[in-house]
Amino acid sequence: MAESSGGDAVQAGRHDAWQAGDSYEAYMGRWSRQVAPNFLDWLDAPDGLDWLEVGCGTGALSAAILERCAPASLVAIDPSEGFVAKARAGVADARATFQVGDAQALTLATASRDAVVSALVLNFVPDRQKALAEMRRVVRPGGRVAFYVWDYPGRGVQFMRAFWDAAAALDPTAGDLTEDRRFPFCTPDGLTALAASAGLGAVEVMAIEVPTVFRDFDDFWRPFTLGAGPAPGYCTSLAPDARERLKEALQASLPYQADGRIAFNAKAWAVKATVG
Ligand SMILES: C[S@@+](CC[C@H](N)C(=O)[O-])C[C@H]1O[C@@H](n2cnc3c(N)ncnc32)[C@H](O)[C@@H]1O
Repeated sequence: MAESSGGDAVQAGRHDAWQAGDSYEAYMGRWSRQVAPNFLDWLDAPDGLDWLEVGCGTGALSAAILERCAPASLVAIDPSEGFVAKARAGVADARATFQVGDAQALTLATASRDAVVSALVLNFVPDRQKALAEMRRVVRPGGRVAFYVWDYPGRGVQFMRAFWDAAAALDPTAGDLTEDRRFPFCTPDGLTALAASAGLGAVEVMAIEVPTVFRDFDDFWRPFTLGAGPAPGYCTSLAPDARERLKEALQASLPYQADGRIAFNAKAWAVKATVG
């Protein structure tokens, strides 16, 4: 499967900004919160487990684990101090601990967790095979490793595609930044192969689709101007006149409903495996 070389990947990822929790929440956290319950229902984990969440961001999946899975404990890590602070403030629960950490070098002991999960993270980790191997390492025998990523190659995140299609029509260099080019492995076959390369067997993959409905154009556009994530990072890097041209192109092209709402869908691939 073709992937960018290291230097190209760094260039394409130059807008991957993960600092401001409120901005991320407006752009993507609110949609990840809708995927999380479906993912956990599919995982069907028993009560009383020790969980680890890798790349917790602002706490979308962490909150759902605490609400739905009756965990004994939840450790949630993310390299972004801003996101960890936002998650900690939003999820006040004695069972949960939020820490700054890196998926590629987990500080948890080997075989110390029952369930290790991750939401919309693995494609952004430089060495994702190492990250998955680390997730596998800290799971107890019989425990689960599971995660979800967006279906980028299938143009599954329609609102993001609408943004990039308009951006690429105005600026040919924007095409190299799109997630479908950067993360071609986010397919059932690619994800199964990735999991196998990290020593995970009996991998199952399922599609999870959620509606992403925007109240109006401002609800759609504003998150792109806040800078958290690849497309917003690109948007805020534009000079004011170029940003205005992009805004006008999008405003003219989106599929509005009679009441002004803009209804898209977003599809994720969820992956789970039991560790032998
Ligand atoms: C799209 S956000 C997903 C956040 C959250 N899990 C959610 O579902 O909303 C990607 C997250 O990956 C995190 N991340 C990036 N590199 C990472 C790494 N090496 N280890 C762990 N997390 C990482 C970012 O800080 C960010 O919080």
